This record gives sequence, structure tokens and C-alpha cells, in this order.
Amino acid sequence: MLKQLKELRREALSELNQVNELRELNSWRVHHLGKKSKLTQILRSLATLPLEERKKVGAQANEIKRALESGLVEKKKFLEEIHLATSLEREGLDVTLPGRPVPIGRLHPIPQVLEEICDVFKNMGFQVFEGPDVEWDYYNFEALNIPQWHPARDMFATLWVDPEMDKESRLLRTHTSPMQIRLMEKKRPPIRAIMPGRVYRYEATDVTHESMLYQVEGLAIDKDITLADLKGTLFEFSRCLFGEERKVRFRCDYFPFVEPGVEVAIECSACHGTGCRLCGYSGWIEILGAGMTHPDVLKRGDIDPEIYSGFAFGMGVERIAMLRYGIDDIRLFYRNDLRFLKQF
Ligand code: PHE
Repeated sequence: MLKQLKELRREALSELNQVNELRELNSWRVHHLGKKSKLTQILRSLATLPLEERKKVGAQANEIKRALESGLVEKKKFLEEIHLATSLEREGLDVTLPGRPVPIGRLHPIPQVLEEICDVFKNMGFQVFEGPDVEWDYYNFEALNIPQWHPARDMFATLWVDPEMDKESRLLRTHTSPMQIRLMEKKRPPIRAIMPGRVYRYEATDVTHESMLYQVEGLAIDKDITLADLKGTLFEFSRCLFGEERKVRFRCDYFPFVEPGVEVAIECSACHGTGCRLCGYSGWIEILGAGMTHPDVLKRGDIDPEIYSGFAFGMGVERIAMLRYGIDDIRLFYRNDLRFLKQF
């Protein structure tokens, strides 16, 4: 029996030597140390042996069991280390590899400037309202003192939605001024509002003209509003956006829905007033039209011009963005050239 045990030990250990995978190791364990293994059977049969033999065989069998068990533990550790090392090597990350850049989006320069403009007026107590791009002739023209026969219609090359071109026709609004009427119909004075939005013109494009652009309309109606309030508001606006130093020109202009009408221009950013292609060699760029709300316009909004007065202004956002950033061609904004857009 002792000889059989010795043989068993040699066989088991040499088989263990051959094992080089964790799965094989498990079958080795079942085969040599499991319930049905020879060793277990021998250990179980010890009771049937005579005392002397039982002692010897028992000691020997237990010693073999311990040897096999410790061989198993060691082999397991060894195989696990190899397994870990190879999988680390296979799945390894090279932490020194530069990452793939994630392109970060940003606001287009026009909405950026639009937001800035709105913030300036919000800080002065103006509320923001929006209205439709497709507008009735009534709001875009009639209610603003521009009846069908009026030559001022020529100021606004119009894109018509309805082909008739009469009072009941729809069009793409040519300015944000129709919002003045819409707001007066809804709100009672005191009113302090700005109305940003897109406007459309049937026009050939060039460095300062686009067929779609953004405007911000302003309207303030209250008792005792004067031209000085308008001038103060617009000068403050210009200071906030262009700084103290930038020259501002404030002079008369004509719009049928204001009386008197004014126009504000800013010193050209490209040539600093000496004259260039951008400013048409005048040194100035017009950024807005404004004036005191015409009494007939107030009446159309059901506001009594004997009690209330108001001012209105409308500015072109692209023009302001051009002055802000020194851009000399309005068409760049809508060409979607990333080299241009990435600069903002
Ligand atoms: N709506 C005018 C334009 O587009 C600007 C303007 C607005 C003028 C309000 C006076 C008052 O040219």
C-alpha cells in the first residue's frame, strides 16, 4: 500500500507540473484530491487496516494530501499571475497616447451679439418680446403710416407671401417695427420693450446687405417721454457695446412712423473714420433708425397721444457685429465657413 501511495504521489506531482491552465488545474484537483480520487479512497479505507499499518499508511497518505494541496495552491497562484499579466498586456492602455479631440460647439457670432444687445436693454429695464416672421401688410406697412401708395414702401424691398400685394396680403416682415403695433395692441403703457427677430429684404447682396438679417426693435411709451430720453438711451447703449471712446453720430432722418426721426451712426471700425469700402468712404456706419412715435401710430395702438408719448428704435444686428469685430463683409456671417466662425 505504501508503494502504491508513493507511486500516486509521483504521478500526481508530475501531472501537476504539466498543467498550464486554470481549467486543467481544476480537473487535476478533482482527479487527485476529489471525493472519488484514489487518495481519498485510501484515506477512507484506513479504518479497515490493522493498527500498525493504519498508522504508517495514514501518516503517509496525510503527508501526500498536504503535499498535493500545497502544490495546488502554488500552481494556482502561479497560473493566476500569468493570466493577469497576459490579459494586462493584451488589453493594456497606452496612457501616453494623445486623446482624440472632441470638437466643442459655440454660439454663432450673431446670436452672441444679439444676446449682448438684449442684455444692455434688459439692464435698463426693457422686457423682451418676439413676433412672427410672416406678417400682414397691415402691421408691416399700413399701421406704421405706410399706405399702399406711399413712396416709403420703396425703402423696403419686400418679399411677398401672397401675390396680390394688397392690404390683406402676407409678406416676410421687412423690419421688426410691426412688433410696435402688436405690442401696443396687447400692453398698456408704461411700455419698455425690445423685440429681436429676423427680417427679410428682396435685395441684391453686397458687403453691407443681406436678404435676411436680424433686427432689434425698441419701444418705450409713457407720460413725458422726450427725445432726450431716446438720445440718452441710445448713447448709453453705444457706450455699453462699443466703449466710451467710440464716436457716435446722432442726426435727423425720416421714417413715416416717427416724428421727428433720427439715425445713429458709429465711427467705422475698419478705418477709424478715415473712409474705406465698408463705410462707403464716409467714416461712419449707420446702425439704427429711431424717433418719437408718431401720434397716429399711438392711436392705432389705442393709446392717447395727448397723454402719452414714446420713442422707438430699430437696429441691425449684423452691422453691429461687424463694427464690434471689425468684419468688412456681411455675407461672411451666413457662408458657414468654419475658419471664419471659429474665431468667435
Ligand atoms: N424699421 C426701421 C428700419 O428697418 C428702423 C426704425 C425703427 C426707425 C423704429 C424708426 C423707429 O429701417
